[in-house]
Amino acid sequence: MAEGGYPSVYVVDSFANRPPVPPRLSQRRRRAGVAQTLLFLLVSLALCGMAIEACLIYRLYRAESGTSASVAKLIAGQGDPSPSERPQRCVLPSKPVAHLTDGQDVVHGNKMMAWSTVADPILCEMDYKNGSLLIQKEGYYYVYSKVSFSDTDVFHHSVELRTELYIGKSIPLLKSSKISLKSQRMKQSNSYLGGVFHLQIGDAIFVKVSNTSKVHRHKSYENIFGAFMI
Ligand SMILES: *[C@@H]1O[C@H](CO)[C@@H](O)[C@H](O)[C@H]1NC(C)=O
Ligand SMILES: *[C@@H]1O[C@H](CO)[C@@H](O)[C@H](O)[C@H]1NC(C)=O
Repeated sequence: MAEGGYPSVYVVDSFANRPPVPPRLSQRRRRAGVAQTLLFLLVSLALCGMAIEACLIYRLYRAESGTSASVAKLIAGQGDPSPSERPQRCVLPSKPVAHLTDGQDVVHGNKMMAWSTVADPILCEMDYKNGSLLIQKEGYYYVYSKVSFSDTDVFHHSVELRTELYIGKSIPLLKSSKISLKSQRMKQSNSYLGGVFHLQIGDAIFVKVSNTSKVHRHKSYENIFGAFMI
């Protein structure tokens, strides 16, 4: 019963007629117990903190490498990768959704805007072909487009619908016009259009501008086109 060279606690104990458990021993034990619990809690807390930090760093690293990879792809202007190479972006079940951007692979028509097939487009239950988004499910869709441009004259931006009911003619769904005064030096401007439309299977929607050579194309995300079912 001797601890650390001391004689037995029973001997040191002055309250000899006290109950079987000597108070100093129980006190010390209790204190040791409290200290142990505290130490355990602190170590657990530190380990928890480390684990959370590791998780956050991992997520940050993954997000960063994801964007830098897609940016690198865009800068390099790589050709269309094979379907197996392209990550599956459509997480089903999902309502139809599409988001397209500009990119180095894009060749616009004179008035009709085209969209990148390599700059990580989102295409879920919608097809992209020849500048148009093709509807595969009937329903109400929010359709939007944003274009950056500079024009010293009049600039039109519209989203149009081509449907099987009106062959050979497109129907404007959304339209904006920016007129700049001759005296003003036109700086960069933007046009954003958005609205809800009922679209049928086989409908094609696309973006038209008055002159695609006036469109700013420094960054892929300056010009966008998308739709999603509501
Ligand atoms: C692509 O769209 C343009 C403009 O609407 C049209 O003139 C052309 O025929 C289309 N090309 C194909 C392959 O569908
Ligand atoms: C578009 O703009 C370019 C450059 O300003 C001009 O040369 C061309 O004629 C314009 N095209 C149309 C269809 O107006």
